Amino acid sequence: MSRKVSGYLISPEALHERVKELAEEIRRDYTGRSPVFVGVLKGSFIFLADLVRHLGDLDVRIDFLAVSSYGMATESSGEVQILKDVTIPVEGEDVLLVEDIVDTGLTLKYLWDLFQQRHPRSLRICVLLDKKERRVVEVPVHYVGFEIPDRFVVGYGLDWAERYRHLPGIAFVEEEE
Ligand code: PRP
Repeated sequence: MSRKVSGYLISPEALHERVKELAEEIRRDYTGRSPVFVGVLKGSFIFLADLVRHLGDLDVRIDFLAVSSYGMATESSGEVQILKDVTIPVEGEDVLLVEDIVDTGLTLKYLWDLFQQRHPRSLRICVLLDKKERRVVEVPVHYVGFEIPDRFVVGYGLDWAERYRHLPGIAFVEEEE
């Protein structure tokens, strides 16, 4: 059994357009504020990088958090570990958590609770992809790029066993004999 990446579910052009729209919405919402964007590694690295380049003169600060939940498998274990924490103190700040995908919601629920305990001024979540039908815990997601079906996807930061993150669009992975 091997795996192959088939055609794009979301093309690079469609990603570009939607990310730009999201950035404009976020820029409007945070006008006059100095938010701290927290990219959740590794999956969010391309999305965050593209998103912040459409923020114009918004006084944004950027930090990263590394978590591990899936390991090398394709299913969520529900076990969330902080591998690297943020370095910007978030107390009293407007914090936006930026993720590539929300699936079961376990990762973001854990991070939501963790960041609430740090007493930010406000806390919001932005995800590029939402696999809504897979949700097992409620988590407030304020900005969503695309809702997608329950299929394994890679590209634009998302991996399969650490591969395919570099693809410029979002693609399905299919198993073949
Ligand atoms: C992915 C994604 C989220 C999480 C979402 O991370 O980036 O963090 O899974 O799934 P959930 O809603 O079921 O918790 P992954 O563990 O694949 O790590 P990566 O970001 O390093 O690719």
